[in-house]
Amino acid sequence: MTDVMILAAGLGTRMKSRRAKVLHELAGRPLIAHVIRAAFALHPASLITIIGHQADEVERAARQAVAQLVDDGNLTPPELFFAVQTEQKGTGHAVMAAREVLQSRTAPLIVTAGDVPMMQGAMLKRLLETHNQEHNDATVLTVKMDEPFGYGRIIRDAEGRYLRCVEQKDGTPEELAVKEINVSIYCFNPASLLGALAHLKADNAQQEFYLTDVPEILLRQGQRLGVFCYEHTEEVRGINTRVELAELERQLRDQKLRELMLAGVTIVDPATTYIHQDVVIGPDTIIHPQVIIEGASRIGAGCVIHSWSRLTNVQMDDDVRVNNSCIIENTTLHSGSSIGPFARLRMNAEIGENAVIGNFVEVKKSKIGKDTKAQHLTYLGDATLGEKVNIGAGTITCNFDGVRKHETIIEDNVKIGSDTMLVAPVRVGKGSVTGAGTVVTKDVPPDSLVVGVPAVVKKKFR
Ligand code: UD1
Ligand code: CA
Repeated sequence: MTDVMILAAGLGTRMKSRRAKVLHELAGRPLIAHVIRAAFALHPASLITIIGHQADEVERAARQAVAQLVDDGNLTPPELFFAVQTEQKGTGHAVMAAREVLQSRTAPLIVTAGDVPMMQGAMLKRLLETHNQEHNDATVLTVKMDEPFGYGRIIRDAEGRYLRCVEQKDGTPEELAVKEINVSIYCFNPASLLGALAHLKADNAQQEFYLTDVPEILLRQGQRLGVFCYEHTEEVRGINTRVELAELERQLRDQKLRELMLAGVTIVDPATTYIHQDVVIGPDTIIHPQVIIEGASRIGAGCVIHSWSRLTNVQMDDDVRVNNSCIIENTTLHSGSSIGPFARLRMNAEIGENAVIGNFVEVKKSKIGKDTKAQHLTYLGDATLGEKVNIGAGTITCNFDGVRKHETIIEDNVKIGSDTMLVAPVRVGKGSVTGAGTVVTKDVPPDSLVVGVPAVVKKKFR
């Protein structure tokens, strides 16, 4: 049993931002979502988040991350607590904001900062195990860093026993030469933590209540303190500036591309390919340079995605081809379909098997049937197209009357002549043909040829 507390009330001054630091995104997710993901590995009974700066937004981001993890893993959600730290007077002060919640908890409590997004669940598990096995009242996680600038340094005595943690701004040159650092991840028995908080003083360079003073206080009280020195330094890097954020972004991106390549995806130029963490791609798919794939996109096997295309939340079956410069959002592409170049698909568009959406075609909230083609210069909005339909160049579904959006239905085997205007709501019956330049204002019966402005039936095929 365990509870997890995330400190996320700070603004993050060094980000030079109006947004709270934990809301800045790494690999397409807010920092706090990465931390919550790691915390979930412990199956915590509760998750206590300290909020302050942009409290509502941070709470929303945390709830959203939890909901997604619960959903993905089919898990029982932890109990969620949000404690507001109205003034940010340090990490120790942040914990004090949750005093009431803590009084009701007895299980060992993992406390972590909200700005350590690379943290892994396995590490937290080991921290908790160490804490339990050693029967500690508190366990501090440390790492050795070649360039420890900015971090709190762990000061030990001649026998190597923990003495205290000294912040960058408070340390003497000698202390700052120490390479073992505090990473802001701890395990505490709640009662010990609560007891020590009462003794915190803000007598330091930043005039803040430091959580880093708690272990020293516990030692003085004769409580049992453990130090868990962790070997994977890169997992516990805190993000304080946008430079660090970009460095981690690059690291995560490289990792993701590597995983994909090892799983059989061809990435022609990893240096210019951006694929977010949650994206799934099948083997033998080829990704050309300068492609961006984001969100919860799922790409099948044997697909080809050409350069300068951006795909967001796209569901793609096998053997789909996306040509150069396509922007595709929230769209489903069935197998064998071909998109672009220069196509824009959005808002729950669905493209059927072997359908072709060609040059300069926009498809919004429309369903395109199997083997249907719209090759050039067309707008299809709020439309449902059947199978084997051909849409001539320059066709437009006039879906908006200035007030409301209306639907267009085009049934199987219809041929829409070039430059047809379909004034919605309107239906074109199966097997019908519209002449070039037709303006269709009324439903077209099946198997008819319509021409003119407005369209009139010129001929019946059956
Ligand atoms: C902290 C540690 C430092 C450690 C480093 C690791 C302290 C005093 N120092 O320093 O020893 O090496 O993390 O990254 O703890 N926060 C609040 N309320 C506050 C202040 C901070 O909720 O009043 C939250 C922040 O939102 C953030 C976390 O605590 O998520 C850490 O705060 P930050 O200011 O980044 O601490 P550091 O100076 O990096
Ligand atoms: Ca930090």
